[in-house]
Amino acid sequence: MRAVDIVMKKRDGAELSRDEITCLIDGYVDGSVPDYQVSAWAMAVFFKGMSARETADLTDVMLRSGKVMDLSGIAGPFVDKHSTGGVGDKVSLVLAPMVAACGVKVPMMSGRALGHTGGTLDKLESIPGYRTGLSEAEFREFIGRDGYAMTGQTAEVVPADGKLYALRDVTATVESIPLITASILSKKVAEGAEAIVFDVKAGPGAFMKTAERAEELARSLVSTGTAMGKRIVGVITDMTEPLGNKVGNFLEVEESLECLEGVGPADLMEVVYRLGAWMLVAGGAAKEVAEGERLCRNAIRLGIPRELFLANVRSQGGRIDRLFELRDRWRAKDRYEVLAPASGFIAGIDAYRIGLAGVYLGVGRDKTTDPVFPDVGFVFKKKVGHAVVAGEHICTAYGKDAAALEAALPLIVSAFSIADSPPPPRPIVIKEISAL
Ligand code: URA
Repeated sequence: MRAVDIVMKKRDGAELSRDEITCLIDGYVDGSVPDYQVSAWAMAVFFKGMSARETADLTDVMLRSGKVMDLSGIAGPFVDKHSTGGVGDKVSLVLAPMVAACGVKVPMMSGRALGHTGGTLDKLESIPGYRTGLSEAEFREFIGRDGYAMTGQTAEVVPADGKLYALRDVTATVESIPLITASILSKKVAEGAEAIVFDVKAGPGAFMKTAERAEELARSLVSTGTAMGKRIVGVITDMTEPLGNKVGNFLEVEESLECLEGVGPADLMEVVYRLGAWMLVAGGAAKEVAEGERLCRNAIRLGIPRELFLANVRSQGGRIDRLFELRDRWRAKDRYEVLAPASGFIAGIDAYRIGLAGVYLGVGRDKTTDPVFPDVGFVFKKKVGHAVVAGEHICTAYGKDAAALEAALPLIVSAFSIADSPPPPRPIVIKEISAL
C-alpha cells in the first residue's frame, strides 16, 4: 500500500478502507509516512470529508496508537464529560464531585489553557500543592476512594493525536469535523469511560462559533462514539458571554466552591445541573434527565459534592488550609476597574475578547510553554441583561503586571456593550442530542 495512492483516493472523494487509514496513521506515528503526505491527506479530508464509518475507523486507529486506561477492579459506572472549551468554564470542577456524590465515577483527563480558552488543569494547579500529573495507580486509587480524579493526558495516550494535531495546526486543517471528532473521541475513549457527555460550546467564545457548527460536531461525536460502543450525549451550550462571574485560575476555583456550597451563579449552575443529569442517565443512576437533575440538586443541597471536592484536593496533594486562607483574597495587585460607559443595560460581554484579554493578564497562554498565573483574571459585578448607571463599577480585571493590564485594556473595554433596553434572554442550553 502506498501513501500517495491513499492521499489520491481521498483527494478524489472516495471512502478509505480501515486498512488504508491504518497504513497512513500507523505509518505517520512510526515515521515511515512523512509529514507532507499526511498534510496532503488532512487537506483532502478537510475538503472531501469522511463517512461515519471512516470517522469511526480513524478514531479507533488513533486510539490504538497508545495506551487505554484500565479501570477494571474499581466498581463503576464510569462516565466522563468533555467540553470543547470556553471562557469561565469551570464546570468540570463542580460536575465531577457532584456526579460522584450521586454514585457515578468520573475518570477525568483534562487539558490546559490555550489561546482564549481556559484549562481545567491550570485552574486546579492554582490550589497550592495540587498535582495533576497522576500515575495510573494514583488515578485508579483516587477514583476508587473519592469517586473521581483529575489528571492530564500523558504522552502515552493517543500519541497519533499529539502528532496529527500539531500538523493540523500549521496546515490550516484543524476545522474539519471528522478530524476534530477523531481527535477528541480517541482521547476520551482512552480514559476508560463507558459513557461520555460532550458539552459542545457555541458562540464567539467557543471553538465552534455558531450553533449550527456546534450541532454538526455534536452529532458527529454522538454517532461516532455510539458506533464505537459507548453511550454518548452531546449538549450544545451558549458561550456568548463568559460563564459565571469569575474568570481566572484561582478565581474559578473560588467560584467552583461557591457552586458546591449552593450559591453558584444561575447560568453556570444551569449548565452543571444539565450535564450532571445526563451523566447520571448515561451511567444508569437516573432513568431520565428530570430525575438526574433532582438528584444533582439534592446532592448539592446536602453538601456531599463539597466534601468529595475537598477529599480530592487532599488526595491530589492540595493544601486545604491554604485554599481557605487564600479564598476571596488572592488577587494580583495590578488591577483595573471597568466602569459602565453609559446608563442602560449590559447588552453583551464578548467572551472571545475577555478570553484573549485573559491571555495578556496571565490567565491563559499563547504557546503551550507560557506560564500562567493563579491570582489574575476577571470578577464581573454585572452580566448581560443587568441594568447599570453611567460610571458604575461593573468588572475588575487583575493582571500579572501593569504592562499586561495596559496591553489587555482595549480588549477589556471593547468587550462590554450597553443598550437602552435589555437584550432578549438567550437559552444557555441550546440543544441536546442523545443516543442513550
Ligand atoms: N480539540 C481537540 O482535542 N482536537 C481537535 O481537533 C480540536 C479541538
